[in-house]
Amino acid sequence: MMNDDKKITVLAAPLQGVTDNVWRMAQHEVFGGVDAYYAPFMRVERGEVRRKDLRDVQPERNAGITLIPQILACQPDHALMMVDALKEMGYSRIDINLGCPFPPIALHRKGSGMLAYPDLVEELFRALADVEGVEYSVKMRIGWDSNDQWHDILPLMELIKPCHIAVHPRTGKQQYKGELDMEQFEALMAASSWPVVYNGGLHTVEDIDEINRRYPGLAAVMVGSGLAANPGMFCPDAKPDDYRRFHDLLVDGYTDLLNGGEAQLVRHLQDIWQTFLPDTDHKLFKAIRKSRTLDQYRNAAAAALAALG
Ligand SMILES: Cc1cc2nc3c(=O)[nH]c(=O)nc-3n(C[C@H](O)[C@H](O)[C@H](O)COP(=O)(O)O)c2cc1C
Repeated sequence: MMNDDKKITVLAAPLQGVTDNVWRMAQHEVFGGVDAYYAPFMRVERGEVRRKDLRDVQPERNAGITLIPQILACQPDHALMMVDALKEMGYSRIDINLGCPFPPIALHRKGSGMLAYPDLVEELFRALADVEGVEYSVKMRIGWDSNDQWHDILPLMELIKPCHIAVHPRTGKQQYKGELDMEQFEALMAASSWPVVYNGGLHTVEDIDEINRRYPGLAAVMVGSGLAANPGMFCPDAKPDDYRRFHDLLVDGYTDLLNGGEAQLVRHLQDIWQTFLPDTDHKLFKAIRKSRTLDQYRNAAAAALAALG
């Protein structure tokens, strides 16, 4: 992937339920090609930072990779609680989620839902700007329910001086469907004093080359579902055996992590196939979905992975 003969920086997008530390370490070990991984958002629940979220970003579980934790909050005190916990773990780079479109979150004015409330974003940014020793980035949509709401958000970036803004050019209301609004993306990029990262719909290395040619000023690209579908996306020599090894690492990692009974483990492994290897033959995929025991799952997954060659 070239940008003016330089390799463009590749960031792995956060995907809640997919790109956790088990996935990240397996992707890094088997395939690589990612410059930094963004952790799925952490949040405060019942007055505490969720333990599961803290565990996911523990430095010892993420050794050897560059990991940027992400926070999702509307209330400044919740955001500061997470920032403090992350600082204590040694993090000095934190990503702020202004992009999540999931209605239970966005309708509570969090994630992309906050984009319709610049006053809340301002309050949040003012509180975060007061923290010393932390550099922020922002991951955002172009708006919540209108594609031009970013106009009121962009000037607020001055408060936190982000090292970049990653933009997914859809509104929150669009969720993951519908046209990518490249016109608004271009306008945002032109208006931004901060480096801009493109995110959305990059499924192949060719897609990345194309977006680079189109926008040579991009600071980086961020790849989500494309990389979840094909974790070997940046590894042109990847062999079927590499995908099997990647899958083995997931099975072992989740067996250790979940440690909570076979049914939960099987459900989690089945969920991986919602995004992983989407070209899997329908019958083989169905066998994975229908498996009830770990043995059944292993057999079904082995058949799907054998079909790779
Ligand atoms: C299942 C799922 C979970 C996601 N979780 C997060 C998240 O935790 N934080 C975030 O900023 N974005 C999250 N996203 C959005 C992705 O990071 C990304 O912005 C989006 O999928 C568009 O990029 P893509 O087309 O490369 O996948 C999630 C998306 C999906 C589909």
